[in-house]
Amino acid sequence: MKSKSVAVEKSLKSSIPKTVGLMLVVCLTLSACGGEGPGTPLAQRKAIFKQMLKTSEDTGGMLRGRLPFDGPTFVAGAAKLDALSHEPWKHFPAVKEAGHTSAKDAVWERQARFQALARALEARTGELVVATQTLQLTPANMIPPMNNVEDACDACHREFRNH
Ligand code: HEC
Repeated sequence: MKSKSVAVEKSLKSSIPKTVGLMLVVCLTLSACGGEGPGTPLAQRKAIFKQMLKTSEDTGGMLRGRLPFDGPTFVAGAAKLDALSHEPWKHFPAVKEAGHTSAKDAVWERQARFQALARALEARTGELVVATQTLQLTPANMIPPMNNVEDACDACHREFRNH
């Protein structure tokens, strides 16, 4: 019995291709095993979300008096936010990573709902851009569409993000 299992083990070992060992090394080096390495989907979507936060803080800050309201800067921020709002979703892989993600399992279990909230954000940022093009550029006019964008962020985080 024992010698047989040793033999099986030996033959298994010798049949493991070298590339697997190589991949493991690469994987550990980049810490890509946990999905965290640079260029991984997790790193990419986190970077986009951070840019979204930075941009929305800047545009929102102008409406709350934290930053001086500047029309052209606000218009540029709205456009950037609209472009960014389409970007994170393709970086959620088909299967959840084991690594340091704050995405809930629900992202993968309730894909339709998650995608609906992603489309909702895209719609709200689109409306914000339209508001910058059709309304007079004043904080009073920009506050409602900007609030809608921030609500769309929060709505998804409440359902799909830990903390
Ligand atoms: C459809 C869902 C959804 C919407 C809408 C959404 N987020 Fe998120 N957000 C997530 C999920 C899920 C994560 C967790 C990602 C992860 O860690 O895998 C996240 C993470 C983040 C993070 C943390 C990134 C990090 O470094 O860990 C920030 C910041 C963030 N979102 C900002 C925003 C802002 C700002 C908006 C709106 C302009 C927004 N999000 C809209 C789902 C959403």
